[in-house]
Amino acid sequence: MSPVGHPLAPTSSLPLLRSSTLSSEQIFSALNNLHELYFPVSLSRAVESQLELGKVHGDIPIEPVDSGYASEDGDIDGDEDIDGEDFLDTLRSDVFERNFAIGWLTTLIARADELPLGDEDERERAIDKASYVLASFSKPMDEEDEEDTGIIRNFSFTLDLSSASKSPEAKKSSFDDKIAIDVQLNDISMTTHSDVGLQTWGASVVFCDLICASPARFGFTTPTLGSSPRIVELGAGTGLVSLVLAKALPLLDFTNSTVIATDYHPTVLANLETNASREGVKTCALDWSAPVLETPLDSPADILIATDVIYDPRHALWLRACATRLLAPGGVFWLLMTVRPNGRHGAVIHSVEPAFQGTSPQTPEGRHLAILGSEDIDRRQGIGRGDESGYKLFRIGWA
Ligand SMILES: C[S@@+](CC[C@H](N)C(=O)[O-])C[C@H]1O[C@@H](n2cnc3c(N)ncnc32)[C@H](O)[C@@H]1O
Repeated sequence: MSPVGHPLAPTSSLPLLRSSTLSSEQIFSALNNLHELYFPVSLSRAVESQLELGKVHGDIPIEPVDSGYASEDGDIDGDEDIDGEDFLDTLRSDVFERNFAIGWLTTLIARADELPLGDEDERERAIDKASYVLASFSKPMDEEDEEDTGIIRNFSFTLDLSSASKSPEAKKSSFDDKIAIDVQLNDISMTTHSDVGLQTWGASVVFCDLICASPARFGFTTPTLGSSPRIVELGAGTGLVSLVLAKALPLLDFTNSTVIATDYHPTVLANLETNASREGVKTCALDWSAPVLETPLDSPADILIATDVIYDPRHALWLRACATRLLAPGGVFWLLMTVRPNGRHGAVIHSVEPAFQGTSPQTPEGRHLAILGSEDIDRRQGIGRGDESGYKLFRIGWA
């Protein structure tokens, strides 16, 4: 028997894959149990670290808030008892249990088509998760405790330079008004988070594509922003948007731009720093629920950007309060929401408009933010996960 609240032994918990009563919930619960048993760092640690930092959200009760990275709430106790740890160490090193788990995972992958999984997306998630746990078993033992170095991903966007007087660099490398912006970054896949892991999300790819196709539409012209704009990305994740902007802005005549990519999650931030350091992007911790605006966030941002960051009804309210403190007079906050009509994040799209109604919060000068415009953006083929039906772009500014 496992201590209460701890992962269960594979032999006593994995359901029979041939059972006629098997359900998709049982399959995912078993996969999560294996993940938690063999790869114990999970979202719960992110929530724990918030609590350790002593963050108290005023009148908002402290509950695990969905970070957008996990699909299940974690245990936030953080008080793993010593007996429990010993038990888990023994269980993890039990070769019989491990082989039993390997056999179960292999069968699951081989028979995924026959299993009672809801749809193709769910099937894919189950296979991904099972493959990940299996692949991790095949690592040499001495590598097992090492950090996952993730996967390198390459992105390429076509930047339209027609709104810029071409810089010498752009003149050299482009024959017409278009130039390729190539960015490489590190995604950490499915290691430290309990479900979908650290990755670059469809919304950030679509947003980069939109900005590059039409920088002027987003205000990226020197007559609008001057030559030294400050751009801040909120919930940057792997930082794709910031990296693309850091490459694109000099080509658009911005001689002295500052791009700051922020996130609140320690593991995400560590990866973000690695990615950002390649392109001269600054990084810093920023939690919208309790923003601390110290250097480099002590000057207002001309443009704020956030892609696919709302997973909880409180997020839009926090983002509004945070943006009210960060955005320069005349600045614009671009928020790209992912539309997920089905599943438990389906309703959050409706939390944005109410959160930006009314005149509170305000700046000391009495300014308040409002949604100045919004636009539906189509899904792009091959970009984003199966549950994304499209995107909604909000232009937020001073009312
Ligand atoms: C789904 S990811 C999107 C990441 C990135 N914008 C993209 O589109 O690839 C959501 C991001 O929001 C961050 N996040 C969630 N809650 C946050 C909070 N309270 N303050 C700051 N960042 C937060 C997460 O750490 C994560 O990086």
